[in-house]
Amino acid sequence: MSKIHAAITGVNGYVPEYILSNKELETTVETTDEWITSRTGISERRILKGENKGMSDMAAEAVRGLLEKTGTKAEEIDLLICTTITPDMVFPATANIICDKIGAKNAWGFDLGAACSGFLYGLTTGSKFIETGAHKKVVVVGGDKMSSIIDYTDRTTCVIFGDGCAAVLLEPTTEDLGVMDTILRSDGAGRHHLHQKAGGSLKPASHATVDAREHYVYQEGQQVYKFAVTNMAEVAAEILEKNNLVSDDINWLVPHQANLRIIDATANRIGIGREKVMINIQRYGNTTNGTIPLCLWEWEKQLKKGDNLILAAFGGGFTWGAIWLKWAYNS
Ligand code: UT7
Repeated sequence: MSKIHAAITGVNGYVPEYILSNKELETTVETTDEWITSRTGISERRILKGENKGMSDMAAEAVRGLLEKTGTKAEEIDLLICTTITPDMVFPATANIICDKIGAKNAWGFDLGAACSGFLYGLTTGSKFIETGAHKKVVVVGGDKMSSIIDYTDRTTCVIFGDGCAAVLLEPTTEDLGVMDTILRSDGAGRHHLHQKAGGSLKPASHATVDAREHYVYQEGQQVYKFAVTNMAEVAAEILEKNNLVSDDINWLVPHQANLRIIDATANRIGIGREKVMINIQRYGNTTNGTIPLCLWEWEKQLKKGDNLILAAFGGGFTWGAIWLKWAYNS
């Protein structure tokens, strides 16, 4: 019997309407459009405004559109994996809330936390449930409402992050398509350089932690940059070598969008020109779990059945990884 692969059979994204531009940030913190653009490549990012709106609201929008596009009924979903570091609440899982909002009554689900590499972890996990034959329809939705954990008085982080989310549908195929190989890595020693100090069991939220602004993202930018630029490039190269692929075999590099300089370093390391790299950091900033699926959504119409894609990410944890994906359809 031929091997079952997990193929992405649809993708859909959601970004909030409100655009927070570099120009607007110039009026609230000591920064300049020039600094942000030259150091990161970001011009603007989206922010989810309004009371009582969380990650699940963006995800429900993305998944509803995905079901419509793929002609799938909500009741047909077997499993929904939500990859996020900004769940609606500490518990229950945001995956459960999304399933409730979209009417996925027969699905089970869970949240997966691997920061900026979360979508790669989720895609790998979801694909295993398809490859084993356990499930026929798995949704992986990745995104973050980063504005909920960003200190907008801290110029070193508030210029980088944005809100957004996108979802893919995974289904089985016996064709040579879909998730072909994945390499995932982590090193918890990196946690000191990028984390949220309070609000977990180690340091529950209190007046003191709020006063100390410890429920916001803490990042030592230069340290993280050093690890990101090396590890993301190396793991991308490793997945090519492992599968006897050369740069000419690759149609698209789909990198996590944290910094244009890290994206360029990864593309250079594997010998891919800018024209084959998905880049939308200028419009959305770093949406953490949302960056890679948002790229797939925006480039969907240019993708052809059989195209070789290399997905690569690095993030808090530290976590990093790469996936070789063969695109499964023409849209
Ligand atoms: O996605 C998860 C993983 N995260 C990443 O991959 C992020 C990795 N890190 C980075 O992308 C970069 O380190 C940053 C974009 C965060 C920062 O860029 P950098 O080139 O590493 O800047 P820096 O931290 O070395 O700061 C250089 C200078 C400092 O001033 P002094 O000490 O040289 O006087 C900062 O205080 O730039 C200053 N600075 C700013 N100036 C204007 C920091 N933030 C800003 C700002 N506007 N927003």
